[in-house]
Amino acid sequence: MNRIAVLTSGGDAPGMNAAIRAVVRTAVGYGWQAFGVLQGYKGLIEGSFRHLGPRDVSGIVQLGGTMLGSARCPEFQEEHARERAIHALKEQKIDALVVIGGNGSQSGAAALNAQGFPVVGIASTIDNDLVGTEICIGVDTALNVALEAIDRLKTTAKSHHRAFLVEVMGRECGYLALMSAIAGGAEAAVIPESPTHPDQVAEVIRQAYKRGKTHAVIVVAEGAEYNAQRIQAHFAGHYHEMGFEIRTTILGHVQRGGAPGAYDRILATRLAAAATEQLHQGNHGVLLGLQQGAYVPTAYEQVAGKIKSPDPALFHLANVLAQ
Ligand code: F6P
Repeated sequence: MNRIAVLTSGGDAPGMNAAIRAVVRTAVGYGWQAFGVLQGYKGLIEGSFRHLGPRDVSGIVQLGGTMLGSARCPEFQEEHARERAIHALKEQKIDALVVIGGNGSQSGAAALNAQGFPVVGIASTIDNDLVGTEICIGVDTALNVALEAIDRLKTTAKSHHRAFLVEVMGRECGYLALMSAIAGGAEAAVIPESPTHPDQVAEVIRQAYKRGKTHAVIVVAEGAEYNAQRIQAHFAGHYHEMGFEIRTTILGHVQRGGAPGAYDRILATRLAAAATEQLHQGNHGVLLGLQQGAYVPTAYEQVAGKIKSPDPALFHLANVLAQ
Protein backbone atom coordinates (compact mmCIF):
# COMPACT_ATOMS: atom_id res chain seq x y z
CA MET A 1 0.00 0.00 0.00
CA ASN A 2 1.43 3.36 -1.08
CA ARG A 3 -1.37 5.65 -2.08
CA ILE A 4 -4.92 5.90 -0.72
CA ALA A 5 -7.82 8.18 -1.59
CA VAL A 6 -10.66 9.44 0.57
CA LEU A 7 -14.07 10.83 -0.40
CA THR A 8 -17.22 12.08 1.29
CA SER A 9 -20.53 11.15 -0.29
CA GLY A 10 -24.27 11.72 0.08
CA GLY A 11 -25.70 14.13 2.65
CA ASP A 12 -22.90 15.83 4.58
CA ALA A 13 -22.64 15.34 8.33
CA PRO A 14 -20.87 17.37 11.05
CA GLY A 15 -17.62 15.51 11.73
CA MET A 16 -16.79 14.57 8.13
CA ASN A 17 -13.86 17.00 8.12
CA ALA A 18 -12.47 15.47 11.31
CA ALA A 19 -12.62 12.08 9.58
CA ILE A 20 -10.85 13.36 6.44
CA ARG A 21 -8.11 14.88 8.60
CA ALA A 22 -7.61 11.65 10.54
CA VAL A 23 -7.52 9.50 7.38
CA VAL A 24 -4.87 11.76 5.84
CA ARG A 25 -2.69 12.03 8.94
CA THR A 26 -2.82 8.35 9.89
CA ALA A 27 -2.07 7.43 6.25
CA VAL A 28 0.94 9.74 6.27
CA GLY A 29 1.93 8.15 9.58
CA TYR A 30 2.12 4.80 7.77
CA GLY A 31 4.34 6.40 5.14
CA TRP A 32 1.62 6.54 2.45
CA GLN A 33 0.46 9.35 0.19
CA ALA A 34 -3.13 10.53 0.62
CA PHE A 35 -5.47 11.98 -1.99
CA GLY A 36 -8.88 13.60 -1.65
CA VAL A 37 -11.60 13.02 -4.24
CA LEU A 38 -13.75 16.12 -4.85
CA GLN A 39 -17.58 15.94 -4.84
CA GLY A 40 -17.98 12.28 -3.88
CA TYR A 41 -18.63 9.59 -6.48
CA LYS A 42 -19.32 12.22 -9.13
CA GLY A 43 -15.73 13.47 -8.75
CA LEU A 44 -14.45 9.90 -8.63
CA ILE A 45 -16.02 9.08 -12.00
CA GLU A 46 -14.62 12.33 -13.43
CA GLY A 47 -11.17 11.71 -11.91
CA SER A 48 -11.11 14.82 -9.64
CA PHE A 49 -8.25 14.04 -7.25
CA ARG A 50 -6.24 16.35 -5.03
CA HIS A 51 -3.08 15.42 -3.15
CA LEU A 52 -3.54 16.00 0.61
CA GLY A 53 -0.60 16.38 2.97
CA PRO A 54 -0.90 16.93 6.73
CA ARG A 55 -0.95 20.75 6.30
CA ASP A 56 -3.78 20.57 3.76
CA VAL A 57 -6.10 19.30 6.48
CA SER A 58 -5.08 21.86 9.11
CA GLY A 59 -7.79 23.85 10.87
CA ILE A 60 -10.71 21.70 9.70
CA VAL A 61 -11.42 19.47 12.71
CA GLN A 62 -13.87 22.06 14.07
CA LEU A 63 -15.61 22.81 10.77
CA GLY A 64 -18.99 21.51 9.64
CA GLY A 65 -19.63 20.26 6.11
CA THR A 66 -16.84 18.62 4.14
CA MET A 67 -13.75 20.28 2.65
CA LEU A 68 -13.89 17.75 -0.22
CA GLY A 69 -17.49 18.52 -1.13
CA SER A 70 -20.18 15.90 -1.48
CA ALA A 71 -22.84 14.92 -4.00
CA ARG A 72 -25.72 12.58 -4.63
CA CYS A 73 -24.66 10.39 -7.57
CA PRO A 74 -27.41 7.98 -8.70
CA GLU A 75 -25.21 7.13 -11.71
CA PHE A 76 -22.85 5.23 -9.39
CA GLN A 77 -25.49 2.49 -9.09
CA GLU A 78 -24.54 1.52 -12.67
CA GLU A 79 -21.68 -0.91 -13.15
CA HIS A 80 -20.22 1.07 -16.07
CA ALA A 81 -19.96 4.20 -13.86
CA ARG A 82 -18.07 2.19 -11.25
CA GLU A 83 -15.76 0.88 -14.00
CA ARG A 84 -14.97 4.47 -14.95
CA ALA A 85 -14.23 5.18 -11.28
CA ILE A 86 -11.88 2.20 -11.02
CA HIS A 87 -10.15 3.35 -14.21
CA ALA A 88 -9.65 6.83 -12.69
CA LEU A 89 -8.33 5.35 -9.43
CA LYS A 90 -5.87 3.12 -11.31
CA GLU A 91 -4.70 6.02 -13.46
CA GLN A 92 -3.73 7.85 -10.25
CA LYS A 93 -2.07 4.62 -8.97
CA ILE A 94 -4.38 4.62 -5.94
CA ASP A 95 -4.30 1.32 -4.02
CA ALA A 96 -7.41 1.71 -1.83
CA LEU A 97 -10.32 4.06 -1.20
CA VAL A 98 -11.91 5.27 2.05
CA VAL A 99 -15.61 6.19 1.72
CA ILE A 100 -17.09 8.47 4.39
CA GLY A 101 -20.88 8.43 4.08
CA GLY A 102 -24.26 6.94 4.86
CA ASN A 103 -26.43 4.18 3.52
CA GLY A 104 -26.44 4.87 -0.23
CA SER A 105 -22.75 5.75 -0.18
CA GLN A 106 -21.79 2.54 1.61
CA SER A 107 -23.87 0.47 -0.83
CA GLY A 108 -21.86 2.11 -3.64
CA ALA A 109 -18.65 1.36 -1.76
CA ALA A 110 -19.66 -2.29 -1.31
CA ALA A 111 -20.35 -2.59 -5.04
CA LEU A 112 -17.01 -0.99 -5.90
CA ASN A 113 -15.24 -3.37 -3.54
CA ALA A 114 -17.11 -6.35 -5.05
CA GLN A 115 -15.98 -5.16 -8.49
CA GLY A 116 -12.37 -5.63 -7.37
CA PHE A 117 -11.23 -2.27 -5.97
CA PRO A 118 -10.32 -2.29 -2.22
CA VAL A 119 -12.60 -0.02 -0.18
CA VAL A 120 -13.20 0.60 3.52
CA GLY A 121 -16.15 2.66 4.77
CA ILE A 122 -16.71 5.04 7.67
CA ALA A 123 -20.28 5.30 9.01
CA SER A 124 -21.35 8.92 8.58
CA THR A 125 -24.96 10.10 8.39
CA ILE A 126 -27.24 12.08 10.67
CA ASP A 127 -29.97 9.47 9.94
CA ASN A 128 -28.22 6.78 12.04
CA ASP A 129 -29.72 4.06 9.86
CA LEU A 130 -26.55 2.07 9.10
CA VAL A 131 -26.17 -1.53 10.20
CA GLY A 132 -22.74 -2.21 11.76
CA THR A 133 -22.62 0.76 14.11
CA GLU A 134 -24.54 1.98 17.12
CA ILE A 135 -24.01 5.59 16.11
CA CYS A 136 -22.81 7.39 12.99
CA ILE A 137 -20.76 10.55 12.58
CA GLY A 138 -23.04 13.62 12.75
CA VAL A 139 -25.90 12.12 14.74
CA ASP A 140 -24.98 13.65 18.09
CA THR A 141 -24.52 17.15 16.65
CA ALA A 142 -27.78 16.94 14.64
CA LEU A 143 -29.61 15.77 17.75
CA ASN A 144 -28.30 18.72 19.72
CA VAL A 145 -29.45 21.11 16.98
CA ALA A 146 -32.93 19.56 17.06
CA LEU A 147 -32.96 19.80 20.85
CA GLU A 148 -32.00 23.44 20.87
CA ALA A 149 -34.90 24.12 18.49
CA ILE A 150 -37.32 22.09 20.62
CA ASP A 151 -36.22 23.85 23.81
CA ARG A 152 -36.78 27.22 22.16
CA LEU A 153 -40.15 26.22 20.72
CA LYS A 154 -41.26 25.04 24.15
CA THR A 155 -40.82 28.48 25.65
CA THR A 156 -43.02 30.15 23.05
CA ALA A 157 -45.46 27.22 23.08
CA LYS A 158 -45.84 27.64 26.83
CA SER A 159 -46.44 31.40 26.59
CA HIS A 160 -49.23 30.94 24.05
CA HIS A 161 -50.65 27.61 25.23
CA ARG A 162 -49.93 26.01 21.87
CA ALA A 163 -48.97 22.62 20.54
CA PHE A 164 -46.07 22.36 18.09
CA LEU A 165 -45.43 19.75 15.43
CA VAL A 166 -41.63 19.70 14.97
CA GLU A 167 -40.42 17.79 11.94
CA VAL A 168 -36.87 16.41 11.96
CA MET A 169 -34.83 14.67 9.25
CA GLY A 170 -33.88 11.01 9.15
CA ARG A 171 -35.10 9.77 5.78
CA GLU A 172 -36.90 6.42 6.39
CA CYS A 173 -35.47 6.04 9.89
CA GLY A 174 -37.14 7.42 13.04
CA TYR A 175 -34.00 7.50 15.21
CA LEU A 176 -33.48 11.29 15.21
CA ALA A 177 -37.18 11.92 15.90
CA LEU A 178 -37.37 9.38 18.69
CA MET A 179 -34.22 10.56 20.45
CA SER A 180 -35.22 14.22 20.05
CA ALA A 181 -38.61 13.38 21.58
CA ILE A 182 -37.07 11.58 24.56
CA ALA A 183 -34.36 14.16 25.23
CA GLY A 184 -36.66 17.09 24.46
CA GLY A 185 -39.49 15.92 26.71
CA ALA A 186 -42.02 15.74 23.87
CA GLU A 187 -45.58 14.46 24.23
CA ALA A 188 -45.13 12.02 21.33
CA ALA A 189 -42.88 10.90 18.49
CA VAL A 190 -44.32 10.05 15.09
CA ILE A 191 -41.88 7.71 13.33
CA PRO A 192 -41.97 5.51 10.21
CA GLU A 193 -41.35 2.34 12.23
CA SER A 194 -44.56 2.77 14.21
CA PRO A 195 -47.28 4.21 11.93
CA THR A 196 -49.39 6.81 13.70
CA HIS A 197 -52.61 8.28 12.31
CA PRO A 198 -53.24 12.04 12.78
CA ASP A 199 -56.33 11.16 14.84
CA GLN A 200 -54.03 9.45 17.36
CA VAL A 201 -51.79 12.54 17.44
CA ALA A 202 -54.90 14.70 18.02
CA GLU A 203 -55.86 12.47 20.92
CA VAL A 204 -52.38 12.81 22.48
CA ILE A 205 -52.68 16.61 22.23
CA ARG A 206 -56.24 16.58 23.63
CA GLN A 207 -55.19 14.41 26.58
CA ALA A 208 -52.16 16.61 27.31
CA TYR A 209 -54.49 19.63 27.43
CA LYS A 210 -56.95 17.80 29.70
CA ARG A 211 -54.15 16.79 32.08
CA GLY A 212 -53.37 20.46 32.54
CA LYS A 213 -50.22 20.75 30.44
CA THR A 214 -49.45 24.30 29.33
CA HIS A 215 -48.19 23.24 25.92
CA ALA A 216 -47.39 20.15 23.85
CA VAL A 217 -44.59 19.15 21.47
CA ILE A 218 -44.93 16.34 18.94
CA VAL A 219 -41.71 15.35 17.14
CA VAL A 220 -42.45 14.04 13.65
CA ALA A 221 -39.96 12.15 11.48
CA GLU A 222 -39.85 13.38 7.90
CA GLY A 223 -40.15 9.78 6.72
CA ALA A 224 -43.33 9.00 8.66
CA GLU A 225 -46.38 8.17 6.55
CA TYR A 226 -48.01 11.29 7.99
CA ASN A 227 -45.27 13.93 8.09
CA ALA A 228 -45.85 17.28 9.83
CA GLN A 229 -47.53 18.91 6.85
CA ARG A 230 -49.89 15.97 6.32
CA ILE A 231 -50.79 15.90 10.02
CA GLN A 232 -51.44 19.63 10.04
CA ALA A 233 -53.58 19.35 6.89
CA HIS A 234 -55.59 16.59 8.57
CA PHE A 235 -56.09 18.79 11.64
CA ALA A 236 -57.47 21.75 9.66
CA GLY A 237 -60.86 22.75 11.03
CA HIS A 238 -60.51 20.60 14.18
CA TYR A 239 -58.16 22.79 16.22
CA HIS A 240 -60.81 23.82 18.75
CA GLU A 241 -61.37 20.14 19.65
CA MET A 242 -57.77 19.75 20.82
CA GLY A 243 -57.54 22.53 23.37
CA PHE A 244 -54.25 23.89 22.04
CA GLU A 245 -53.75 25.92 18.90
CA ILE A 246 -51.32 24.14 16.57
CA ARG A 247 -48.15 25.42 14.86
CA THR A 248 -45.67 23.51 12.70
CA THR A 249 -41.89 23.91 12.40
CA ILE A 250 -39.83 21.92 9.89
CA LEU A 251 -36.15 21.94 10.88
CA GLY A 252 -34.75 20.61 7.58
CA HIS A 253 -31.10 21.07 6.65
CA VAL A 254 -30.31 23.26 9.64
CA GLN A 255 -29.77 19.94 11.45
CA ARG A 256 -26.96 18.98 9.10
CA GLY A 257 -25.11 22.29 9.10
CA GLY A 258 -22.69 23.86 11.56
CA ALA A 259 -19.77 22.79 13.68
CA PRO A 260 -19.48 19.23 15.01
CA GLY A 261 -19.64 18.78 18.78
CA ALA A 262 -16.91 17.08 20.80
CA TYR A 263 -18.56 13.65 20.51
CA ASP A 264 -18.65 13.75 16.69
CA ARG A 265 -15.09 15.05 16.38
CA ILE A 266 -13.79 12.19 18.50
CA LEU A 267 -16.02 9.53 16.92
CA ALA A 268 -14.97 10.67 13.42
CA THR A 269 -11.30 10.74 14.34
CA ARG A 270 -11.33 7.29 15.90
CA LEU A 271 -13.40 5.64 13.15
CA ALA A 272 -11.11 7.15 10.51
CA ALA A 273 -7.97 5.99 12.31
CA ALA A 274 -9.49 2.50 12.64
CA ALA A 275 -10.42 2.45 8.93
CA THR A 276 -6.88 3.35 7.87
CA GLU A 277 -5.54 0.72 10.24
CA GLN A 278 -7.73 -1.89 8.50
CA LEU A 279 -6.02 -1.03 5.23
CA HIS A 280 -2.64 -1.21 6.95
CA GLN A 281 -3.51 -4.72 8.10
CA GLY A 282 -4.42 -5.66 4.52
CA ASN A 283 -8.21 -5.74 5.12
CA HIS A 284 -10.92 -4.13 3.01
CA GLY A 285 -14.57 -4.62 2.11
CA VAL A 286 -15.68 -3.50 5.57
CA LEU A 287 -17.54 -0.64 7.23
CA LEU A 288 -16.04 0.79 10.42
CA GLY A 289 -18.53 1.43 13.18
CA LEU A 290 -18.82 1.79 16.95
CA GLN A 291 -20.03 -1.31 18.79
CA GLN A 292 -19.95 -1.67 22.57
CA GLY A 293 -17.17 0.88 22.93
CA ALA A 294 -14.96 -0.58 20.18
CA TYR A 295 -14.27 0.72 16.66
CA VAL A 296 -14.89 -2.43 14.66
CA PRO A 297 -15.20 -3.56 11.04
CA THR A 298 -18.33 -5.25 9.67
CA ALA A 299 -18.25 -6.99 6.29
CA TYR A 300 -20.04 -5.05 3.55
CA GLU A 301 -22.23 -8.09 2.82
CA GLN A 302 -23.89 -7.56 6.22
CA VAL A 303 -24.30 -3.80 5.76
CA ALA A 304 -25.11 -2.93 2.14
CA GLY A 305 -28.75 -2.31 1.27
CA LYS A 306 -29.95 -2.68 4.88
CA ILE A 307 -31.65 -0.07 7.05
CA LYS A 308 -31.30 -0.16 10.83
CA SER A 309 -34.37 0.75 12.89
CA PRO A 310 -34.36 2.28 16.36
CA ASP A 311 -34.96 -0.02 19.33
CA PRO A 312 -38.79 -0.41 19.77
CA ALA A 313 -38.27 -0.25 23.55
CA LEU A 314 -37.28 3.41 23.13
CA PHE A 315 -40.59 4.16 21.44
CA HIS A 316 -42.39 2.66 24.42
CA LEU A 317 -40.18 4.67 26.78
CA ALA A 318 -40.96 7.93 24.92
CA ASN A 319 -44.68 7.32 25.47
CA VAL A 320 -44.25 6.42 29.16
CA LEU A 321 -42.20 9.57 29.78
CA ALA A 322 -44.82 11.80 28.13
CA GLN A 323 -47.41 11.15 30.92
O1 F6P B 1 -29.33 11.36 4.63
C1 F6P B 1 -29.20 12.58 5.28
C2 F6P B 1 -30.36 13.47 4.95
O2 F6P B 1 -30.17 14.71 5.60
C3 F6P B 1 -31.74 12.91 5.27
O3 F6P B 1 -32.07 13.03 6.63
C4 F6P B 1 -32.61 13.73 4.36
O4 F6P B 1 -33.81 13.05 4.05
C5 F6P B 1 -31.75 13.88 3.14
O5 F6P B 1 -30.41 13.73 3.56
C6 F6P B 1 -31.89 15.18 2.43
O6 F6P B 1 -31.14 15.11 1.28
P1 F6P B 1 -30.70 16.35 0.40
O7 F6P B 1 -29.69 17.14 1.18
O8 F6P B 1 -30.10 15.74 -0.82
O9 F6P B 1 -31.93 17.15 0.14
